[in-house]
Amino acid sequence: MRASADIGGRVSERLPIAVLVSGTGTNLQALLDTVHGREAQVVAVASSVAGAKALERAEQRGVAAAVFARADYDDRQARDEALADWLTERGARLIVLAGYMELLSGDFLGRFPGAVINVHPSLLPAFPGLNAIGQALAYGVQVFGVTVHFVDEGVDTGPVIVQRAVELPGARGEEQVLDALRPLEHALLPQAVRLFARGELVLDPADPRPAKGAGRDCA
Ligand code: GRF
Repeated sequence: MRASADIGGRVSERLPIAVLVSGTGTNLQALLDTVHGREAQVVAVASSVAGAKALERAEQRGVAAAVFARADYDDRQARDEALADWLTERGARLIVLAGYMELLSGDFLGRFPGAVINVHPSLLPAFPGLNAIGQALAYGVQVFGVTVHFVDEGVDTGPVIVQRAVELPGARGEEQVLDALRPLEHALLPQAVRLFARGELVLDPADPRPAKGAGRDCA
């Protein structure tokens, strides 16, 4: 890992992380603006979509970026193997899914055990999968929220790391909810990375819930 000096002059290690994206990349930007160069070093950004805005954000910060589009491989397994190989070559020790719109195979997850996390715009286990905000609005909930969780082979079913709620009793539109959730996502995802980087967050496969260190606050 790369070394960095903190404010007190102590030398600490930066956790090499990779960020997987498919779209705008505001969560990637939050990581680049907070933990990158401090507790962590973003060593790779991989997109499932060519031309995603997130790729520009990586390039602007000089972070290696590549596209692994499903259509360029025989099947998902082959795509995941190539992706895992590249992330391993880059030295990534934590894989962060930040708006990554693809499912990852068990083989991929097995390459990074207990080290793949995701940010999801609902209070899991409510409203997993696609269009979580639309699902929540259709249900008529009055409390919305964000979850950062470990990734397992299910759809948004892995152990919770951090969650935060926001009350929006009169919410009508997705834009309004998204505007309220964005700042929560941009705070919680770096928080989870910090916990992991400091070794305060550990997933024990034999006893995964709750993950050790889950919910711990840290700045
Ligand atoms: C976020 O809402 C995240 O919770 C979900 O996908 C969205 C990604 O947004 N998984 P961005 O690309 O980080 O702006």
